[in-house]
Amino acid sequence: MTHPVDVGTLWGMAINEKLAAAMNNQVTAELEAAMVYLQLSYHMDDLGLVGMRDWFQNQHQEELTHAEAFAEHLRDRGYVPQIGDITPPKLDIANATDAFEASLAHEQKVSGLIRDLAALSDSVKDYDSRPLLDHFLAEQIEEEATVGGILDRLKLADTGAGILQIDKELAERDSAE
Ligand SMILES: [Fe+2]
Repeated sequence: MTHPVDVGTLWGMAINEKLAAAMNNQVTAELEAAMVYLQLSYHMDDLGLVGMRDWFQNQHQEELTHAEAFAEHLRDRGYVPQIGDITPPKLDIANATDAFEASLAHEQKVSGLIRDLAALSDSVKDYDSRPLLDHFLAEQIEEEATVGGILDRLKLADTGAGILQIDKELAERDSAE
């Protein structure tokens, strides 16, 4: 007996090869984002901004969960994820504003990648990936708004005391969410 469609496994809901490859790249991109945040946490630690250090550490953990969400989707559909080369950009960070600007730039890059994934899933009519991609489209709006908001406040804080106040506020974020 032959299957009407080429299923990767007997139980997996087969995923389009091109979409699987793009989603596999997203696993690597999310891991790279995790490394960018880890690097930013080191810079904040060096500047004595421990609230921001912890905020970036939480962000690091959150990015690991994003990578895992894409990897799990692939695994559930019979595709074995393969982590690619992770090459975080070299960042020149002299202050908190530099760090959050780097963070916003990276989030904007990730948003573009997720939009590309959504467009690809539409073009190959892969409706099964829509809940996951819709979740991440919404997630990126939130990420960019959060980082953009912190950046706005950092630009308003033109004194060390103002920066320390924002650092204190960011320390109150309790965990990756
Ligand atoms: Fe992410």
